[in-house]
Amino acid sequence: MRAGFVLLSFFAGALAPAPGIAQALDYEYFKARVQPIFLEKRPGHTRCIVCHSERSTNALRLQPLAPGAKGWTEEQARLNFETVSRLVVPGDGKAGLLLMHPLAPEAGGDAYHSGGRQFASRDDPEWKRLSDWARGATLR
Ligand code: HEC
Repeated sequence: MRAGFVLLSFFAGALAPAPGIAQALDYEYFKARVQPIFLEKRPGHTRCIVCHSERSTNALRLQPLAPGAKGWTEEQARLNFETVSRLVVPGDGKAGLLLMHPLAPEAGGDAYHSGGRQFASRDDPEWKRLSDWARGATLR
């Protein structure tokens, strides 16, 4: 019994790192699950990439897509990862401009975003992906 408890505590500790410790953001998760969100068209909204690339004068400045390209190269993805990582609070799935700015104010998002209320609620599957990544999600 006691051994089982100790073992369980060990695993629980390994899975849930102590709060306050800086969490790593996962590059592979970013590339596969987060980056595509910037290219997707949400009904009634303009795609993030349209405003948040060369023309952007704010902190979300994504690499420009090559003419005809449907996605970013590995090198560009690394640069996007660096840029976007600065807009989240690693380990916190509810803070940071990336999560708060495009989220509707009714759902706890920032009051104003020129690019609109791209995510109506925190239940939006794409918003959840952003949040999971900030919390340190990995692909496995
Ligand atoms: C129609 C253009 C447009 C679209 C589309 C758009 N944005 Fe924005 N976004 C802006 C502008 C302009 C700002 C800076 C002014 C402001 O805060 O509204 C901004 C600000 C931001 C910021 C804060 C950056 C800073 O320096 O404060 C984030 C994060 C952001 N947008 C994320 C997104 C995401 C994610 C999407 C897609 C889901 C998106 N935006 C779509 C125009 C857009």
